[in-house]
Amino acid sequence: MAIRTRSTVDSLVEKDRVRRAVYTDPSIFSLEMERIYLGSWISLGHESEVPEPGDFKTDEIAGRPILVTRHNDGTVHVLLNACRHRGATVCEIASGNAPAFKCPYHGWTYRSNGELAIVPSQEAFGPDFDRNEYGLRPLPRVATYRGFIFASFNPDVPELEEHLGRAAQYIDAFVDRAPAGKIQVRKPLKTEYAGNWKLQIDNFADGYHPPFTHPAVFGGPTERASRAPTNGTEASRRGGGTRSFGRGHSFSDLGRFRASNRFPEELSLHPSYVSALTDRFGPERARELALADTYLLIYPNLYLQTLLSHFRLVKPQAVDRTHVYGYPCDLVGAPDVLNDELARVTMAWTSPGGEVQVDDMEAFSRVQRGLRADPQEWVLFTMDQNEHVNEYGEVEGGGMGDSRARGSFREWARLMAEPS
Ligand code: FES
Ligand SMILES: [Fe+2]
Repeated sequence: MAIRTRSTVDSLVEKDRVRRAVYTDPSIFSLEMERIYLGSWISLGHESEVPEPGDFKTDEIAGRPILVTRHNDGTVHVLLNACRHRGATVCEIASGNAPAFKCPYHGWTYRSNGELAIVPSQEAFGPDFDRNEYGLRPLPRVATYRGFIFASFNPDVPELEEHLGRAAQYIDAFVDRAPAGKIQVRKPLKTEYAGNWKLQIDNFADGYHPPFTHPAVFGGPTERASRAPTNGTEASRRGGGTRSFGRGHSFSDLGRFRASNRFPEELSLHPSYVSALTDRFGPERARELALADTYLLIYPNLYLQTLLSHFRLVKPQAVDRTHVYGYPCDLVGAPDVLNDELARVTMAWTSPGGEVQVDDMEAFSRVQRGLRADPQEWVLFTMDQNEHVNEYGEVEGGGMGDSRARGSFREWARLMAEPS
């Protein structure tokens, strides 16, 4: 299927439903990689993954290998992991510390800021050969926000703060929960499922499925249905609700629906933790931060779950294969007992041996198989249409339905219809 015009995109995506081919057609996937993953800001994790000079990690965007490094001067670099000689990757290790990157093919050796330091037999390349011209290429745009690293292959993306807009305040809240005002990530938990990347994005915004997909954790459907908010007004009155910020970012606040069975309130309110937060923010904000149960999507690939202090990165591999990395985050300055429990519950939540994400991955692979039955049929995002636009132009909706997913598909349609 060729998408070359706005009208082709419109035939795939309507206000509250999308064609099933959007999840199954390899040519649509290729175009998503080009226009969304190479055309917009993509999250590459957090700079506390590379805290010391020489620290590095390898990553990728839309299949293009990338190296994230910390140089001697403390700066973070995002470089193409491809030797300037014949193109070999210069590093194949997930993460570590190295004084330099020596290409295994002919030995060209690069510093952690990308500079080409050594070319064996350089004289054979002639007198005009200049090592300065052959450093590892940096990505055209790199920026951080509260330590979260973003990069783009598109030189024309807006400034990162403009891209994040008002969604940034919930990244602030995520990080401000740390008494020292910074987080330290632990090693990621890596999972893979046999389905399209958007199934995970839709699921982040799906408050409908938990009692059915995760009955062991969320109780029976009857109990849940009887207390769930059903529209924006009711949700906000009862302390919950969702918001779509534009550019595909969105957020839910469970408010009084905080699922305390997942993380006991006594632990979130550990006395020495709350007193450290109170010193910085005063008692009211300290309590609010300690108990915050918010779910933020920074479109298209970063998801922050505040109560458990973890974030996830979505990494599309193919139209029907996706990796998801979950990162437990220590709240720097919080007691060890709190951080260890946050990491333990995050592991129970997101790891392959856990009790929540595995259920979702089973659902995703079933959806992916089922979608193939009829690519022209619709996927429905018709739930909870009772939403309104607030004073900032954000769409506010209910805590359970499809308002956030509709917001993400508005951005999908915008990016897919406008070649970058
Ligand atoms: S490909 Fe790297 S040195 Fe030749
Ligand atoms: Fe789920």
